[in-house]
Amino acid sequence: MQKAGSQSLRESSNGNMSSVDLFSPTTVGGLTLANRVAMAPMTRSRANADAVPAPFSAAYYADRSDAGLLITEGTGPSAMGMGYARTPGIYNDAQVAAWRNITDAVHAKGGRIFLQIMHVGRIAHAANRTIAAAPIAPSAIRAQGQMWTDTQGMQPNDVPRSLETSEIAGVVEEFAHATRNAIAGAGFDGVELHAASGYLPNQFLATGSNQRTDAYGGSTENRIRFVVEVLEAMTKAAGSAGRVGIKVSPGMPFNDLQDEDPIGTHLALMDAIGPMSLAYLHVMRTGIGAETALRDRYQGTLLVGGGLDKEQANAGISSGAFDVAVFGAKYLANPDLVARLKSDAALNVPDNSTFYTPGEKGYTDYPTLGS
Ligand SMILES: Cc1cc2nc3c(=O)[nH]c(=O)nc-3n(C[C@H](O)[C@H](O)[C@H](O)COP(=O)(O)O)c2cc1C
Repeated sequence: MQKAGSQSLRESSNGNMSSVDLFSPTTVGGLTLANRVAMAPMTRSRANADAVPAPFSAAYYADRSDAGLLITEGTGPSAMGMGYARTPGIYNDAQVAAWRNITDAVHAKGGRIFLQIMHVGRIAHAANRTIAAAPIAPSAIRAQGQMWTDTQGMQPNDVPRSLETSEIAGVVEEFAHATRNAIAGAGFDGVELHAASGYLPNQFLATGSNQRTDAYGGSTENRIRFVVEVLEAMTKAAGSAGRVGIKVSPGMPFNDLQDEDPIGTHLALMDAIGPMSLAYLHVMRTGIGAETALRDRYQGTLLVGGGLDKEQANAGISSGAFDVAVFGAKYLANPDLVARLKSDAALNVPDNSTFYTPGEKGYTDYPTLGS
């Protein structure tokens, strides 16, 4: 690899050497992105009690549409898949209509937007749910930890019910249904499977939460089966694998997730999903170097996030360590993040007291440069 100043040169697909940085266009699953800055999926808890996104969420996303790619907050594929207060769903007509307003607002400004599909599995409390049934999980093991409920304050996660083998195809179909609603119904450019952070797909992957003895538990091959089947169903429902991405966070202990060999598990997953030609793999950095191990094993487009600043993002992109840089908290607080990064302007500081509160404060009111 040659170097020109501080920026290295990468071989482009036509064999020429060219410089690439955060602001270079790229393609993801056939979709052209204006730059390599993505907004991370971030739960903001502004939906109503029926899991319908707020009308003002259209402004929140549209204000950030200079991103090469926006990825939405985690969104439930079914009432069973919901667990937190005021998070949105994509399983009924009212939700689809509200999301359509959001995608229209983003597209009107030339933005690109994927919906993150998040089934919480065992990370749930009854006070946050519209159905009385216990949450489902690979095994009936309660996740240590507490979550916020609007009516009872902090509460421990509920004890989940273990899925019967015969029920799993129905859960997989929920992800397909959500994908159809997102793309054909709500007009998203694509969908991202949330297989990170200790939610249902991640619960299947990990030895601590998956103690099944059927074809979905035990060996690594069995523990990755659920995620592979969900991705197959989602790509079919999307009509193209290029409209489906996946997020993983190997080694992240969040939500009481324990795996004996997180990198090994995810390498096996890469081998299984590599041939699918998905839009992208999105890796959240957790400090164990998984993003490097997975880059070596996975041929497709790689998005990486987790505490990145501009220098790290540019270095990762120009060296070929990853293709697109994902920003979470910085994007939440800076609607014009791309412009600020370009001009090295100071960044607004995220106010974590309003991350999950209802209403527009701390949501649509962060100032832009010059405002
Ligand atoms: C308020 C907030 C909500 C989040 N919600 C989600 C979520 O719904 N889905 C998800 O995959 N990650 C979620 N994350 C994690 C981010 O996507 C990202 O991986 C993380 O913030 C690290 O990136 P950063 O250091 O640039 O913020 C959330 C992060 C924040 C700050």
